[in-house]
Amino acid sequence: MQIHRRPAQNSDYDWLLRLHHTVYRNLIIKAFGCWDEDEEFELFTEAWQTQKIQILMRNGQRIGMLMIFEETGRLWLDEIQIDPQFQNQGIGTIVIKELIAIARDRQLPVHLRVLRANRGAHRLYCRLGFRRIEEAKHHIVMALK
Ligand SMILES: CC(C)(COP(=O)(O)OP(=O)(O)OC[C@H]1O[C@@H](n2cnc3c(N)ncnc32)[C@H](O)[C@@H]1OP(=O)(O)O)[C@@H](O)C(=O)NCCC(=O)NCCS
Repeated sequence: MQIHRRPAQNSDYDWLLRLHHTVYRNLIIKAFGCWDEDEEFELFTEAWQTQKIQILMRNGQRIGMLMIFEETGRLWLDEIQIDPQFQNQGIGTIVIKELIAIARDRQLPVHLRVLRANRGAHRLYCRLGFRRIEEAKHHIVMALK
């Protein structure tokens, strides 16, 4: 399966906002008991303003987004969202495995944060070899060394 990445453009803004709200609404309600539209919009805006969003494309179609950054000798998988209609088809696995291969080449560990309530993502990260290294009230930090 060929998945390409390209930098997000202004024309992706509405699609990304919809994707963010679609993939996170139920999860945020599960984790925090409510969905605060203003707070979530602020979080989305912060991510958008970093200009680090990459769009995942397959067959010329947007299927998700990815944010990664490097900090103090680590690669952070900052965000990954796959459009629900394309979830559970192995796309997240391919994208994260690619990131792991890049990190291995550069001898960098990969770190990420995942909400405790996000059991599906946690299961996926464990399967890919990530292990928990820190715990907070609502999230877990995981690393693959
Ligand atoms: C988590 C996510 C990136 C995985 O991508 P994917 O392409 O669906 O994953 P794959 O098909 O490669 O692997 C399937 C696994 O992903 C996880 N998964 C699937 N749908 C998921 C969802 N809606 N939310 C969380 N995890 C999910 C499960 O572990 C699943 O395996 P399972 O058979 O054990 O349940 C994607 O489902 C998603 O965008 N979820 C919503 C946003 C999110 O939770 N992002 C991660 C934040 S840390």
